[in-house]
Amino acid sequence: MQTLRERSLSVFPAGSNGEFNLPAELAIVITKGKGCELWDSDNRRFVDFSIGWGSVLVGHAHPAVVEAVTRQAPLGSNFAYVTENSLRLAEEIVRLSPACDALRFCASGTEATMYCQRLARAFSKRPKMLKFEGAYHGANDIGVTSLFPTHPPDFPEPDPTSADVRHSAKRDILVAPFNDLEITARIIGEHAHELAGVIVEPLQRCTPPQPGFLEGLRTLTREHNLLLIFDEVVTGFRLAYGGAQQYYGVVPDLVAYGKALGGGYPIGAFGGRRDIMDIVREDRLGDPLYVWVASTLGGNPISTAAARAALSVLSQDGTYERLHTLGHYLREGMRRVLQNRGITAQVIGDGPLAQVVFTQQPIRDYRSTQRADKARARAVMLGLFKRGVFLNPMGTKLYLSMAHDEGVCDEFLDRFDDAVCEKELARPFGE
Ligand SMILES: Cc1ncc(COP(=O)(O)O)c(C=O)c1O
Repeated sequence: MQTLRERSLSVFPAGSNGEFNLPAELAIVITKGKGCELWDSDNRRFVDFSIGWGSVLVGHAHPAVVEAVTRQAPLGSNFAYVTENSLRLAEEIVRLSPACDALRFCASGTEATMYCQRLARAFSKRPKMLKFEGAYHGANDIGVTSLFPTHPPDFPEPDPTSADVRHSAKRDILVAPFNDLEITARIIGEHAHELAGVIVEPLQRCTPPQPGFLEGLRTLTREHNLLLIFDEVVTGFRLAYGGAQQYYGVVPDLVAYGKALGGGYPIGAFGGRRDIMDIVREDRLGDPLYVWVASTLGGNPISTAAARAALSVLSQDGTYERLHTLGHYLREGMRRVLQNRGITAQVIGDGPLAQVVFTQQPIRDYRSTQRADKARARAVMLGLFKRGVFLNPMGTKLYLSMAHDEGVCDEFLDRFDDAVCEKELARPFGE
């Protein structure tokens, strides 16, 4: 009889639902999660440093989220219309998000960033968007353009990471280096007549913005009458309750949310200035500015109940001090392990996020990560996975949650210490 793993490998390409790239012999099937732990179908325990790619910031099966979902489930799962849950959640987001006068819900971060771009293009009546090399904005065209270019072209030329966007990327997207205001200003200056806006992950993957970078983008976009979009799918509710806008003190025109907002349930949200959001009003159908928005499961009562419960947990006193303290503890611990082993590497990230990059150079943009030893990073990630740390070996970004503590980080660091050893890395997988 086939094992669950064999069945998964036969029905899912690469044995996953996307972006997981585990060797077949390491593929697992998960049965349950609680807090920062999960178990596979062989009842093997993992400490979870992926935590649903950061979507379960409150920890797996948090009682408040479970209770909210259980209460809502018998009352109906979707009406594709406003419910008390979606209304109250929207009011809370408008209250906490400086950029949001009004918003709409969708079901994922990919949808949220797609709508932001649409709004920018329609509102400005210009066709192109500028993104930063190496940034991910979801599986839409702009998200996968110049995401992992192996031979990056000269700026601002885009590179398709996904074959299908070859033509649309060339037509619609310009690419700039993150943290380089000079080159970004030059590109914006030369293309302002055809640019609708700039989309940025305020903390790009795990690379923080250098002082003045986001402020500079804000000034440049205002000067050239472009819309600034913050993709807060990762940073929202994670770096601070008010997200990157609050944390870095820069307010964009439009903002996209997802992940942590839903407490692990499917959600996305996009919002911004009222005059921009106004162009989605259906009574404007036929108006040349009108933008189509429709998401069957967007704002459904189960996801928005889960989100309200997650936000009630995250908004408690001390949450963000705790998440930052823990992230610092993990990053410092990783640095110590590497230093003790005589390995040169950069440990980057902020808040409850960390990533190790095997290079001597400080990381400021995609190209500085590209020069790093990526094979080694992958080997370390796979070494950790084999030792019972659940993570995404393709992304190499580590996510902490409210359920993590110093003890779990110590457990991780012990295994990290084993995994970074040269001898261990030389050992073939599966032995
Ligand atoms: C910054 C950022 N934007 C957008 C997305 C897309 O979100 P989703 O996977 O919910 O579509 C992601 C997903 O990882 C992300 O990291």
